[in-house]
Amino acid sequence: MSLATSWEAAANPRRRVGRAVEFHPVIGSTNDRARALLEARSDDGVAVVADLQTAGRGRLGRTWLSPAGTNLMVSVGAELGIPARDAWRVGAATVLAAIRACEPWARLAVKWPNDLFAADGRKVGGVLIETTLQGERLSSVVIGVGINVNWHSGTMPQEISASAVSLAELAGSSVDRVALLSRYLAALDEELAAVDAGTSPVDRLRDVSWLDGRWLRVDTGGEHIEGRGLGLSDQAELLVETETGVVAIGFGEVVQVRATAEAVA
Ligand code: BTN
Repeated sequence: MSLATSWEAAANPRRRVGRAVEFHPVIGSTNDRARALLEARSDDGVAVVADLQTAGRGRLGRTWLSPAGTNLMVSVGAELGIPARDAWRVGAATVLAAIRACEPWARLAVKWPNDLFAADGRKVGGVLIETTLQGERLSSVVIGVGINVNWHSGTMPQEISASAVSLAELAGSSVDRVALLSRYLAALDEELAAVDAGTSPVDRLRDVSWLDGRWLRVDTGGEHIEGRGLGLSDQAELLVETETGVVAIGFGEVVQVRATAEAVA
């Protein structure tokens, strides 16, 4: 069986998400390909998978690093007509689907807004959601996920080797990427259907939040906010108890985390 054929084994024509799988040995970014499929053919739900990306993107304009044939990089385009103010639900649904997919190998948590984290605070994967708006509604979305699967920390670039870990390292054995993809697509299909039907994933997101009770420093683009993580608002904003009161943060990145404020001193 060729590699391409084995990736296609994760497709299920009876589902919306992942009804087909398009595999690329090398591509710029799977998110770009999924967007092109949506724009050219309204090809909703096709999963685009790559063994290597030459222009993989992360959040906040970063590069997504991943060696060839080692990890999972997948994007799905979907036409979703939900209100633009609920766009965060797509990222939440995606990270919940990824956590469910990884369950046989590791119990993961979410570092706000939608990073996949191991219990010890190392990053296992991330989500990149790229939306198109039509007035007050979302017209389409590209959902990209990168998960460190069979990548050993010893071979990671120095800048991430201390802060990243792979599923295989957590599980203690190598992980079948096609089985992981298959579980992810099935879970994402369910999670997206719930979002499309107007159901909020926030309670389940709260259940897997990694930041609650920890001391945080959050970069909101214009300023840094420090304080204790108090959980999530109903719109999945990060609630931080600062010296001057509780702040709800809708956009940004948690750049430092400590067990307690005292540990920072
Ligand atoms: C992050 O943590 O910053 C998000 C990383 C998202 C990476 C994935 S890999 C598949 C898809 N294609 C991309 O170019 N990016 C996403």
